[in-house]
Amino acid sequence: MKPKPLVIATGNPHKVEELRAIFGGAGIEVIGLGDLGGMFVEPAETGRTFAENAAIKALGYAAQTGRLCLADDSGLEVDALGGAPGVISSHYATDGVETGQSRAERDAANNARLMRELEGVPRERRTARFVCEMCIADGAGVVARARGTFEGRIGERGEVPRGGNGFGYDPLFVVEDGRTSAEMSPAEKNARSHRGSAAMRMAEALARIR
Ligand code: IMP
Repeated sequence: MKPKPLVIATGNPHKVEELRAIFGGAGIEVIGLGDLGGMFVEPAETGRTFAENAAIKALGYAAQTGRLCLADDSGLEVDALGGAPGVISSHYATDGVETGQSRAERDAANNARLMRELEGVPRERRTARFVCEMCIADGAGVVARARGTFEGRIGERGEVPRGGNGFGYDPLFVVEDGRTSAEMSPAEKNARSHRGSAAMRMAEALARIR
C-alpha cells in the first residue's frame, strides 16, 4: 500500500515547496498543513535547543492531525557570543519576546543588534553557523531526527550587509568564498545550507524506514 504523504508542519508555504523538491527525489510525497483543511494550533516553542523545539512542533502537530508530521527549527549560532542568538534567532533584538513586528522589521533589528554585539571583534573570532534540526513524529512519538549545519562568519562593518536573496541574517553571513549567503541563488543555498543538508539526511532516513 502506498504510504500516506508526509505533512510538513509549518505555516510557511516556501518551506513546503523547498522540502517537496528534496523529498520528491527520494520518492516521498509531501503536503502542507493547509492541504489537510483544518484549524491547527501552533505549539509554543518553549525548548532550550533547536532539537527540543523541532520535537515539540512535530509531536504537537502529529497529535492534532493524526498524521506523520515533519517540523524544523533553525537559527544562527555565533561562537564569540557563546552560541547566541540560538533559539531566539528570530526575535533576538527583543530578547526572544514576540512584539508583533513584521518579519522585515524583525530581521533589520536583529541584524543591527548582532553587528553591535560584535563591534570590535576581529575577523578570526567572528565564526558562526546556521543550524537546522528536523524531527518527524507520529501519534506514538518521534520517528526520526536529522541535523544540518552551514559554517561561515559574520562579516565586519563596511564588508556587510551584502546581497538581496534569502532572509534573516543572510546579508551578514559570509561563506568561505567571501560571498554572503544572500548573494547565493536559492538553488545554490539549498544545496549547501543547514536546511538543505538536514532535509537530505531526513529523506535518506525516511526512505530506509518506510
Ligand atoms: P525558523 O526556523 O523559521 O523559526 O527560523 C529561525 C530564525 O533563524 C529566522 O527567523 C532567522 O532569523 C534565522 N535563520 C534560520 N535560517 C536562516 C537562513 O537560512 N538564513 C538567515 N537566517 C536564518
